[in-house]
Amino acid sequence: MAIGPFVRQLLGPFERSVSDIYRAVFVDLLVLAKQIKDQIPAENILEIGCGEGALTEYLSRIYSKAHLTGIDITPQVGRMFQGDLSRVLFKQQPVKDFVDQNQSCFDLVVISDVLHHVPWEMHQDFLADSAKALKSGGYLAIKDWESRSTPIHLLCYLADRYITGDRVKYKTLDQLRALIKAAFGEDCINKEIRIRPWSNNIVFFVQIQ
Ligand SMILES: C[S@@+](CC[C@H](N)C(=O)[O-])C[C@H]1O[C@@H](n2cnc3c(N)ncnc32)[C@H](O)[C@@H]1O
Repeated sequence: MAIGPFVRQLLGPFERSVSDIYRAVFVDLLVLAKQIKDQIPAENILEIGCGEGALTEYLSRIYSKAHLTGIDITPQVGRMFQGDLSRVLFKQQPVKDFVDQNQSCFDLVVISDVLHHVPWEMHQDFLADSAKALKSGGYLAIKDWESRSTPIHLLCYLADRYITGDRVKYKTLDQLRALIKAAFGEDCINKEIRIRPWSNNIVFFVQIQ
């Protein structure tokens, strides 16, 4: 059972601040956006599984001239976004439907903390579809949370499982690498970086030819 929506309703005007604090316990989204920008210049960015727009907001600030599109299957897509909506578009649409209409349009596709929400048997198709949105030479930035036997990992699992209500399932570092290599080839990972405050936060940069 998900307690998240119920608690959020109770929070009223404090919802945004509390949700920012909750997320910051696990990952520094500002640093994530800055690190992605340090690696990849981009004018047209797609965030897949953008949720309510938390990372989209940081990306839109850091990539201050870029156009951003956020897609998600949730009806709440982009709900919490605060920023320049003249450069940002949100759509509730599955990735497959979106890329059918938007092939080879983007310089950068960001997938942050989404894979562990997607059933494992769908991962290959999900990544392959995501890459179709990229122009030749464009980059995927795939951020996820690495499964480890540590207290913070247990806390992250419990928070995700019972606050979002999703049957989340995390991969180990080797499983994440194997997934990405199976989708895009043995030498596809250009760089891996960690994001504070926990080294479970890992980003893979993959260039698509
Ligand atoms: C933890 S949130 C991450 C939100 C955002 N990317 C961020 O890092 O702030 C996970 C999101 O993945 C989305 N999601 C799960 N399965 C998906 C799918 N098959 N296609 C697109 N989005 C999906 C969920 O709806 C949810 O909004």
